[in-house]
Amino acid sequence: MAGPKYSATCSAPVNIAVIKYWGKRDTKLILPTNDSLSVTLDQDHLRSVTTASADESYGGKDRLWLNGVEEEIAEQGRLRTCIDEMRKMRSDKEAGDDKLPKLSSWPLHICSENNFPTAAGLASSASGFAALIYTLATLFGLLPAVDNSQLSRIARQGSGSACRSLFGGFVAWQGGEKADGSDSLAVQVASREHWPDLHALICVVSDAKKGTPSTAGMQRTVATSPLLQHRIKDVVPARMKSISDAIQRRDFDSFAAITMADSNNFHATCLDTTPPIFYMNDVSRAIVQLVEELNRASEEAGKGKVAAYTYDAGPNAVLYAPKENVQLVLQLVRHYFPNADFDDTFNLLGAGSGASHRGQQAAVPLPSGLPSTFNSSVIPVHEAGAVRRLIHTQVGDGPRKLNDAECLLKEDGEPLRLARAKRA
Ligand code: DP6
Repeated sequence: MAGPKYSATCSAPVNIAVIKYWGKRDTKLILPTNDSLSVTLDQDHLRSVTTASADESYGGKDRLWLNGVEEEIAEQGRLRTCIDEMRKMRSDKEAGDDKLPKLSSWPLHICSENNFPTAAGLASSASGFAALIYTLATLFGLLPAVDNSQLSRIARQGSGSACRSLFGGFVAWQGGEKADGSDSLAVQVASREHWPDLHALICVVSDAKKGTPSTAGMQRTVATSPLLQHRIKDVVPARMKSISDAIQRRDFDSFAAITMADSNNFHATCLDTTPPIFYMNDVSRAIVQLVEELNRASEEAGKGKVAAYTYDAGPNAVLYAPKENVQLVLQLVRHYFPNADFDDTFNLLGAGSGASHRGQQAAVPLPSGLPSTFNSSVIPVHEAGAVRRLIHTQVGDGPRKLNDAECLLKEDGEPLRLARAKRA
């Protein structure tokens, strides 16, 4: 698919924080109350793809389609801010070279899709805004003169956590101190190649009710939680340093201990909010107990921790584990949480790479190879579907420039695919 004349298509990854961002000191510029650190996940499994195109002939205004549905670009909204900032950089470039086409003065058509369904229960704003910024930077010819940290300052204004999706591997968002946000940006702590054996198992937990959106939830915590002040001042600064050291040493034990402690501290500040915010549910807490028991028994057997859990603003667990432990963790989760849909990307179950396990499944026995003192009655076997879906992935790379074959816009600038509901 050739696509429009002036267009670019790029993808960006999802990231899951191990030191959580929770709270803003400036809600318009999206400046955080603390530093944070995340692991970038592999785009082969989870990614947002965006095509952006500029053309004089597009009827006057910018348009954007998200997963096949046209979205309004609100005047004072975050999307508007991001587009305007990128346009300004292009216009500065054009000012220095009058041979350049005046892309900055033409309307944009932007089309974005995720390769994971919204129903997977994963937030897509981080990968989505990172893909948008990286695609516009490509379309506008700003790379590599403008580096990814500079781009992260703009992605941050779309959604805070998006700034960390501008890099692969292990990424810190330095919160910064300046009022204008110029020092609030993402930097890479270590590349994917530094520690490629770190894998992630995402447990998508069923939840009937819609939780408090993170943007609103975090400002309620800022306004009411005394515990958050301790987190900002003492807890996070020490952990940023110790987890960065653990990553440099590829020390999974320390990495896991800090990751779990920080998830628990973040959810404690949610509980310390008035009125309290509950993101984890009974199934989330059962997964915590399971991982804690597995780690306890493994340590008692003289080995290290097997896995680490972390939870964002919802009930889903993300389990980080060294590659060689994933088989055990996967079978354990499948034993206690039957019937989770699972696409076996790494062929752990031996039915072929990518084999799909869906719907009713035979009961999964407890895996062999559990540490001898593991208490199998630590949690009950849950009802089928309590964990809806399992996604196995690994640490991944940063945004990618894709070729024309992956362009999401037709030659006339209209989206290639529209969602069915909107097509009528
Ligand atoms: C719990 O980045 O979604 O996932 O900046 O308001 O868009 P906004 O919030 P968002 O918050 C993410 C919160 C978190 C922790 C994290 O990713 O660090």
